[in-house]
Formats: sequence, structure tokens, C-alpha cells
Amino acid sequence: MTAGLETVPRAPGALPLIGHVWPLWRDTLAFVKSLRQQGELVRVDVGGMPIYFATSAAYAHAVMVTHGTSFEKGRLFDRMRPLVGAGLATADSRTHRRHRRLMQPSFHRERIADYCAVISGQARTLTDSWQPGQQVAVEEVMGEFSVSTLAATMFSADIGRAAVDAVRRDVPVILKNMLLRAVSPQFLDHLPIPPNRRFDAAAANLRRVIDEVVAATRRAGGAEGHDLLSTLLAARDADTGEAMTDTEVRDELVTILFAGTETVASTLSWAFHEIARHPEVEKRLLAEIDSVVTDGAVGFEEVARLTYTRQVLDETLRLHGVTLLMRRATAPVELGGVTVPTGTEIAFSLYAVHQDPALYPEPGRFDPDRWLPENREGMPREAFVPFGSGSRQCIGDAFARAEMTITLATVLSRWRLRPVPGHTPKDVVAAMPHPDHVPMTVTAREAPEGA
Ligand code: HEM
Repeated sequence: MTAGLETVPRAPGALPLIGHVWPLWRDTLAFVKSLRQQGELVRVDVGGMPIYFATSAAYAHAVMVTHGTSFEKGRLFDRMRPLVGAGLATADSRTHRRHRRLMQPSFHRERIADYCAVISGQARTLTDSWQPGQQVAVEEVMGEFSVSTLAATMFSADIGRAAVDAVRRDVPVILKNMLLRAVSPQFLDHLPIPPNRRFDAAAANLRRVIDEVVAATRRAGGAEGHDLLSTLLAARDADTGEAMTDTEVRDELVTILFAGTETVASTLSWAFHEIARHPEVEKRLLAEIDSVVTDGAVGFEEVARLTYTRQVLDETLRLHGVTLLMRRATAPVELGGVTVPTGTEIAFSLYAVHQDPALYPEPGRFDPDRWLPENREGMPREAFVPFGSGSRQCIGDAFARAEMTITLATVLSRWRLRPVPGHTPKDVVAAMPHPDHVPMTVTAREAPEGA
């Protein structure tokens, strides 16, 4: 016998008409973390709409993986679709299956190795541009770096120069307003206020420029190149031989730009902050980097050998994970004895799951040693899913890990970043909670650690 949704506990603090909108807006991260105390499935009312939060790692796994085929992307993604087009992240299940098959080879090992060469060059350009004693706003620098780096891996040919410039100019404008647009009522999109005008102009320009570059690259036979655009143009379905249309390629590139820039920038900014706050971690990290990186160049080969760096990144991803993901049931599903009917909106927060005290002792403590193989024994796989899980798992996970490892190791092989006193970074809620401001001073490394 299963129970109905009416048996699911409701989160405390709902107000008439607006439900939980106030606690959700006032302190989103504290609110999503608090839900675990109410149960594994908890009702939250957003205005008139009930959303059911899967609060445990096991329930999030059930939604993403075990019953993954009975869910599609939910309301948040419906609102994002007109903004980013019909790319992988927002596509319905049928389109998703076809595109994912076509795109997967662009993220295979050999391709990542090609992208790593570009990322490495970008990271060295960044470190070459710094002077000892210079103060940098790390969150800004990482924001610009992640956009430029992704643009450079997408459009490496001369034809793509215009697109690189457009991406660097327009993506930050769109990212700044995207979450707000996605959660606001639709009629607000059409108000002729400056943020709307800037957003619309940036989105239209980005699409136009990428369209032109896609068409020009196709005409020039650019499908031979090693950049992301060329690999997508060359992609053919293994069974049908079908390729993606130019519009589909454009939408996928735009989706990748939105999915793959802020996430990386936020994780790197938090990582530099956490490393500087934990001298023991910094010491071990620098020792590893010095032993693996001998000539300042960090490429694909080095990434696998930088194991402690990976632990540091994993711990950063655990503490500063994706705020909220959503799904909508396309068939009735049973979750822990409760029948979830078709059409039910489900949400889960990787940020909250990764800080569940039942899975992580002292969850707020930054401790990369949690990720030592001996300490991971017995931990369920679903306890740590920073890139999601199941068929909608991040297609860029290996790319992101390589990019972040190369960037950390390139920067720290040459510089130390010291916090400028007087400011403690605070979370700004976005797709991933990013730090509001991370001012740091660049100091030259004097000698290899331990030398
Ligand atoms: C720290 C960096 C990143 C994190 C934490 C992250 C996290 C995620 C998560 C959790 C999802 C699943 C969303 C869901 O289940 O609804 C996702 C999807 C996606 N990510 Fe990432 N991501 C990162 C970087 C990247 C990069 C660098 C790229 C591209 C180069 C990328 C491209 C995508 C795409 C296209 C999807 C949609 C996949 C699909 O539905 O098939 N991400 N990401």
C-alpha cells in the first residue's frame, strides 16, 4: 500500500498566498538545507504551486537515476528554454536522447586532451599578466577566464574570432540576469526596463554572431578542426548518419556557454579562498604541484597525477554545490511509500545533499582528506554527485575537472594568492552559489615548497 502526496510533511514557515517564497528568497541555502530535518520528501509551496523536495541523497538518486525515465526537466527549465534555446540542459527527453548521442564524442578523452592544450595556454596567459603585489578580484578574474577559455575551446579558427569577442561581451550580461528571469513571472520579460533591454540585446547578438560563425565554418569545411564547434559539426548519429542542423549546433553551444562558465568560475573562486584559509592544505597542494609540474606547463597528462588537487576540488564542490535542480513526473512514481502522480514538480539541492550531517561528519568543515580512498570506503556513490547523475548528468564533467585542475596548478606553480584582510566572502545565490567578492593579493612563489 502506498500513501498519497497529502501525507508528505509541509515545511514550516508558509505564509498565506505566497507560501514559502519569503524564506526561500531570504536565505535560499539555509532554507534548502533545513528541509532535511522534516523528512526525505518535503512539500514547499511557491506561491500557489506545491514543489516536493527530495532531501536525501537516496531520494535524489531515485529521481535522477532509478526512476530517471519517469521524469523530465521541470518548471525552472521551461522558463529557461526561451532564453537558452533547446540545448541539452533544457531539451525534452526525445530530443535529449538524440543530441546526447551526437554530442558525447565531443567530450571523449581524446577531445578533452585537445581542449586541455587550449586551457593550459589560457591559464599561462593569465598568470603571465599578473605582477607581484597586485590585488585581484578573484571572482571577476575567474568569471572572465572561464568565459574566454570556453570560447577559445569552441572557436579556435580565425573565423571564430567574432564569436569569441561576442561571448566575452554578452555571456556575462545574460548570466547576471538569467536566474532572475527564470524564476520571475513571464509578463515581466516584456517590461521595457534597462535590465530587460540589455538582456534581450545580448541574447540576440550572441545568437546572431554564433549563427554566422557556424554557417561560415560549415562553408569553409571547418568540420575538420579540433575545436568544440568543429566536433559538433562533424558529429553523426551512429545508426542513422544524421547530423545536427546549424540551429541545433548554435543552441548547444549557447547551452554549453551557460552551463560551463559560471559553474567553473564559482568553484575556482571558492577553491582559491579555501586554500588560502587552510595553510596545511595549501602546503600539501603546493608540494604536489611542484613535484608534478616541472616546467610551468600543465596539460592533460598532469591532470591525472594531481590527485591531492582533485581532492581539494572535490571538497570545494561538496561545500559549494549546485543550488537547485528540478524535474517533473511524466508517469506515477513511488518514492519511499508515497505515490508521486504525473505532473508533480520535484526539486532537489545538491548543495544541501552534500552537507547532510548523516553522510558527512562536521559537514561545514573544509577537509580534502574526506576524499582519500580509505575514507570513502562505505560511502554510498549517490552521496557525492556534484555533476548530477543518470541520463542528464553533466556532459562537461571531465572537461570541467580538467579545466579547474589545470587552472589551479598553473596559477599556484607560480603565485600564491593571499586574502586581502577585511572581507569574508558571502554566498550569492545563483545556479551555483558563488562568492560575492574574493579580493586577493598576488605574491610570487619564492622557492618550491619543501626545497
Ligand atoms: C564545476 C563545474 C560544473 C558543475 C558543478 C556542473 C554541474 C552540472 C549538473 C549538476 C548538471 C545536471 C543538471 C540536471 O540534472 O538537471 C549539469 C548538466 C550539464 N552541464 Fe554541467 N557542470 C559544470 C561544468 C560544465 C561544463 C564545463 C560544461 C561544458 C563544457 C557543462 C555542460 C553541461 C551540459 C550541456 C549539461 C546538460 C546535460 C544533459 O542534460 O544532458 N557543465 N552540469
